[in-house]
Amino acid sequence: MNGSRRIWRIVRPRTVITPFYFAPLVPRSYTLMAIDPPWRYRTWSETNQDKAASKHYNLMLTEDIAALPVRRLCQDDALVLVWATAPMLPHALSCMAAWGVAYQSNMVWRKVTVNGKVRMGLGFWARTMHEQVLIGTVGKPRKIKAFPSIFDGVAREHSRKPDEFYALVDKHAPNTRKADVFSRETRAGWDAFGNEAGKYDGVIHAA
Ligand SMILES: C[S@@+](CC[C@H](N)C(=O)[O-])C[C@H]1O[C@@H](n2cnc3c(N)ncnc32)[C@H](O)[C@@H]1O
Repeated sequence: MNGSRRIWRIVRPRTVITPFYFAPLVPRSYTLMAIDPPWRYRTWSETNQDKAASKHYNLMLTEDIAALPVRRLCQDDALVLVWATAPMLPHALSCMAAWGVAYQSNMVWRKVTVNGKVRMGLGFWARTMHEQVLIGTVGKPRKIKAFPSIFDGVAREHSRKPDEFYALVDKHAPNTRKADVFSRETRAGWDAFGNEAGKYDGVIHAA
């Protein structure tokens, strides 16, 4: 030392903590996930604009949905159920591939009224009476009791998925840790994520 005082400065590396995209869901926790993305798709006429999903909630581009960290939600082995409308089917399949989820099979929700009649909606090429749930896997999930490939469920508010779907999953895949991704209703046994989570709590049917 030549008489000058050496000044030490402690430099701490700056830690940036990025919140988990799917908070409050817990990373690497789930063995079954139902994912109902806010698909953005073209409507086929101006008069159909009232029915457009964008009138009801925020939408996401397919590339942003494909970039979601779905694998970070799952345990090593998990079952992933993805809702897909008919026009978005190729997009849903490409998102599953991007997430690292292997497509295995699918189920059809046949939309019915409270009286059990088939409910026919609008459509350009085909009038909508159903929606699909794509079944995919991560790793090697434990075998469940196979789902029926078609189930009936009462159609309610725009894009609201039927209670019958959740009852079916609870029955066929008990003892799974479940996440409802892009949820709008709190359900026993399911952890929920979504910017409208809880919106339909206590609402039985308001369509
Ligand atoms: C297809 S709807 C889900 C419908 C729901 N599963 C049901 O049965 O009622 C998609 C949901 O994702 C929500 N959403 C859109 N963008 C989001 C985002 N970036 N983060 C979280 N939720 C989002 C929408 O507000 C909407 O509630």
